[in-house]
Amino acid sequence: MSKRMHLNAFMMYTPMIHAIHSWGLPQNRIREGFNDPDFWQEIAQTLERGRFDTAFFADHLAPYDVYEGDATIALRRGLQFPVHDPVVLIPWMAAATQHLGFGVTLSTASYPPYLLVRKMSTLDHLTRGRMAWNVVTSFQASEARNLGVGRILAHDERYEHADEYLDVCKRLWESWDEDALVWDVARHELIDVTKLHPVKHSGRYFEIDAVSTVSRSPQGRPVIMQAGGSPRGRDFAAEHADVMFAIKRQADDMAEFVGDMESRAAAFARSREDFQVIFGVQLVLGRSDAEAQELRAQLFGLVDLESSLAKLSGVIGVDLSDSDPDSPMADLRVPGAQGILDAFTKTSGSAMTLREVAVEYGVCTGMPQIVGGPESVADQLEALHVDGRGDGFNISPIDLPRSFDLFADTVTPILQRRGIVPVDYTAGTLREKLFQP
Ligand SMILES: Cc1cc2nc3c(=O)[nH]c(=O)nc-3n(C[C@H](O)[C@H](O)[C@H](O)COP(=O)(O)O)c2cc1C
Repeated sequence: MSKRMHLNAFMMYTPMIHAIHSWGLPQNRIREGFNDPDFWQEIAQTLERGRFDTAFFADHLAPYDVYEGDATIALRRGLQFPVHDPVVLIPWMAAATQHLGFGVTLSTASYPPYLLVRKMSTLDHLTRGRMAWNVVTSFQASEARNLGVGRILAHDERYEHADEYLDVCKRLWESWDEDALVWDVARHELIDVTKLHPVKHSGRYFEIDAVSTVSRSPQGRPVIMQAGGSPRGRDFAAEHADVMFAIKRQADDMAEFVGDMESRAAAFARSREDFQVIFGVQLVLGRSDAEAQELRAQLFGLVDLESSLAKLSGVIGVDLSDSDPDSPMADLRVPGAQGILDAFTKTSGSAMTLREVAVEYGVCTGMPQIVGGPESVADQLEALHVDGRGDGFNISPIDLPRSFDLFADTVTPILQRRGIVPVDYTAGTLREKLFQP
């Protein structure tokens, strides 16, 4: 029997999650649902019915504006835009569920660590210990402009900054003992101040002398998720992440990534049991194999080269508008998301042209597509799980709520019968659910 497979829903609070123009698929209810709160609660309940461990929300704070030097294409085509604040959505979704965990993306470039700790600890209280934080460092220069902080740091320095940021956060999360709130009515004492541990920090980026404003939350600190793909990003994940996200196009690249992360983590005295690796996949699920193939053809029919290039340019931070789409994709060192480009250029197999990369990126951002009816999808996931040596999948839906509804009703029961996905949730916090056998 294969080892346990963790299921993570890969979403964004936007009409287009990953597949360009997928909001135009006739059955995609995102058009009515995007601004309907009930829609999101329904999705949370569906994921819980499907025994997902977490609903994860990626996020960014600006439209892609590198292509042709502005954001016109990204705005007109709705390339992951508009994008609403997932932090605000999560307590609402959590209120409709009991067990589902929630991962949310917050950038080290956007909030001071003190406010991030405050937000995440409050969410951890409100969800009774079901929170995870996806640590990103912001690769879009436009995010820095929108936030009024001028410019983003250079690629590797973003991780130096994030190292210190995370160190401060961890100490702030430790600034309250579990039993610091004493509620002693007779002595008029609410907080036992001997149980508070102010953080005194003077570093390259932050000066802090503080205790967190929020009392210790059920998990103490959220589960840490991270998706750095460059060598520096991988070291950062190896040191800090409970859950590492990656996008790899095929099983051998996945297995290679896991091996690399094992050796990097060992340098920080962490073993394979201390972290999970979750790989992105795009779910193209039909009631039958034939229906799934039809959906796949529809998806490719919706993608146009210009939108794909605009999105890819934004993510890697290089304007591709003047590049010849039929020349081989260059193995560049980019200011943006290096790991995403490397997934195409450093993948095993033949070299791809820019057009091929852009179209595949536009449909599924380099994630393997899992196309088929329920039995076939379960088989493909199991094979990739074994060969890729990961701990589960970040499942990107092509439409909502149909993809997750059908998965919950047909694929989850198959994986449960095979003993790969548990039937029931266990009690406890998200960290306990993820890491206890
Ligand atoms: C599965 C996955 C999810 C990601 N989610 C986000 C996100 O929500 N917001 C963001 O700004 N970057 C996101 N990223 C980008 C990474 O966090 C990282 O910033 C990017 O890959 C650049 O780092 P690198 O050059 O080390 O790869 C994601 C990457 C992957 C693989």
